[in-house]
Amino acid sequence: MLIDSYERVVDYLRISVTERCNFRCQYCMPEKPFSWVPKENLLSFEELFEFVKVCIDEGIVKIRITGGEPLLREDIDKFIKMIYDYEPSIDLAMTSNAYLLKGVAQKLKDAGLKRINVSIDTLKPEVAQQIAQKDVLNNVLEGVDEALAVGLKVKVNMVPMKNMNADEIVDVLEYAKARGMTIRFIEYMENAYAKAGIARLTAKEVLEELAKHYNFVDEGFDKSSPSRYYRMDDGYRFGIIEPYGDDFCKECNRIRLTAEGNLIPCLYFDEAMSIAESVKRGDIKTAALVLKEVVKNKPEKNRWGGDDAEVSSRAFYETGG
Ligand code: 5AD
Ligand code: SF4
Repeated sequence: MLIDSYERVVDYLRISVTERCNFRCQYCMPEKPFSWVPKENLLSFEELFEFVKVCIDEGIVKIRITGGEPLLREDIDKFIKMIYDYEPSIDLAMTSNAYLLKGVAQKLKDAGLKRINVSIDTLKPEVAQQIAQKDVLNNVLEGVDEALAVGLKVKVNMVPMKNMNADEIVDVLEYAKARGMTIRFIEYMENAYAKAGIARLTAKEVLEELAKHYNFVDEGFDKSSPSRYYRMDDGYRFGIIEPYGDDFCKECNRIRLTAEGNLIPCLYFDEAMSIAESVKRGDIKTAALVLKEVVKNKPEKNRWGGDDAEVSSRAFYETGG
């Protein structure tokens, strides 16, 4: 079992398989970074899989494939199948913008994917165009329908922003609810790459708005979830992710691996250790030691809140948010 120095069990690995994306979301990568990782710097699926096996053997029970946009990486279904075949009980999930989901959802399900989280910040085509800087909404909604049709469990992420999509909180919730999907509202996290001037709606503001329309009770955090959940009178649950809140890191059970093989103990901190060299030369023992070292170095908390708050200098498209 992997246990950090704050007694948290680390059993969740997020793998960013590419930092490339077909969207340019204002809160993530509005300007295309000039320094895309050259393809030859990426770990191959075979190399990644060698490390994934170590992680599973050490106690990882949940793996999420992220990006950038993971569906841009060719043969991603084959990578999913490699993991599934090694350990079918792994909770195997993906986070995607859903633009390319239509036409591949069945293939992903057949490969062993169980769940997918998609970003839906708006149901208005022109607002979607404004946020992603591309006319995306149609494809996204069709992709979601197809994922549901093939039996994937789908969660919706929405980042509410002032003067942008703040007036759609109830509409997007109703859209998700009507399809049996959980929605989570994520507070916008400041970072050095986002467009200047984005104003987040705080968790408190989201709750105040929802309280005008619904009755709900606070159910607290699910185990190992960064989200606090609320139950409405009819049983529907929605979540709020508050990265600036005090409790965000308490139950953190995750580490992150980038497409280049950097193992990151916390979304916020810059410290990372590379497994690339050891994996490339087939030295799995060293990679396993790096894994243990990174778990040991996991910080207690991000430094986004409080008086001496800092802004993340790490791009979320690199770490998969
Ligand atoms: N703040 C909050 N959420 C973000 N995401 C990406 N960048 C940010 C940010 N700066 C979200 C996306 C996606 C999830 C993986 O992370 O909307 O749903
Ligand atoms: Fe792409 Fe997701 Fe970033 Fe948007 S938030 S640009 S979809 S990686």
